[in-house]
Amino acid sequence: MKNVLIIGFGPHAKRIYFPILNQWGQEWGAKLVYGVDLKSQQQTIETYLQAQNSKLPFFYIDEDEKLYDELHPNVEKRLDKIVEEYSIDGVVISTEPLVHMPYAVWALKKDLHILMDKPISTKFNVSTDLNKAQELKTDYDQLAKLYFDKKKNNKSLSFTLMAQRRYHPAFNKIKELINEVKLKTNCPVTSVQSFHTDGQWRFPTEIVEQIYHPYCQGYGKCSHSGYHTVVD
Ligand SMILES: NC(=O)c1ccc[n+]([C@@H]2O[C@H](COP(=O)([O-])OP(=O)(O)OC[C@H]3O[C@@H](n4cnc5c(N)ncnc54)[C@H](O)[C@@H]3O)[C@@H](O)[C@H]2O)c1
Repeated sequence: MKNVLIIGFGPHAKRIYFPILNQWGQEWGAKLVYGVDLKSQQQTIETYLQAQNSKLPFFYIDEDEKLYDELHPNVEKRLDKIVEEYSIDGVVISTEPLVHMPYAVWALKKDLHILMDKPISTKFNVSTDLNKAQELKTDYDQLAKLYFDKKKNNKSLSFTLMAQRRYHPAFNKIKELINEVKLKTNCPVTSVQSFHTDGQWRFPTEIVEQIYHPYCQGYGKCSHSGYHTVVD
């Protein structure tokens, strides 16, 4: 049985990872044994776990120990201890995308298998600042190097990126139609406009204030589901 630590227990983890691991973990050889999130979420998470009859232990990070570019030394120390005490084999990284990177770097250094949500990383103001946008590539290169270095001595090490809609029929249909037009007209794609609502209707004040896949921090839609229309 592989012991799994989940980092980030928001709507996505509650809707996907927690129920799936609970229902099929035993059969597939994976057990969720510990969780990590922010102190600000403690009440919500405890209420949710209670309703699910779950006693999953959690480490809640203090707001002043929440960093973006690296893990706070206290957080790293505590995570190392959890890995040791609970014989953690792998992590699910399902935090908001701004902090995917430090957790992925830490997990690779600890030789842990990783299932991480898309996008690999994002930055404040990545949609308007070219230097920030270029950091996405350096982040990718850093993780790829770390992963392949680790894999030399640990062949089965797995680092998988979860991109939920990769095989969504709508995206496949769009690809098929683009290809059909290209073949018939000999004209490739020269310009793209893409719209995706993801079932959400943001009100004007929310666009300015809401800190959830936000526009106000300059990474919004493309780091959330707009991403699918670029890469899928
Ligand atoms: N919501 C969806 O339907 C959906 C679908 C597919 C993929 N995803 C991806 O899954 C991930 C999680 O999505 P979500 O909607 O639950 O996001 P979210 O913004 O609610 O974040 C998830 C959790 O991460 C916690 N978190 C934030 N900073 C943290 C830190 N420094 N350390 C530990 N925990 C921290 C938050 O408190 C929250 O509970 C994202 O990368 C997202 O792109 C989401």
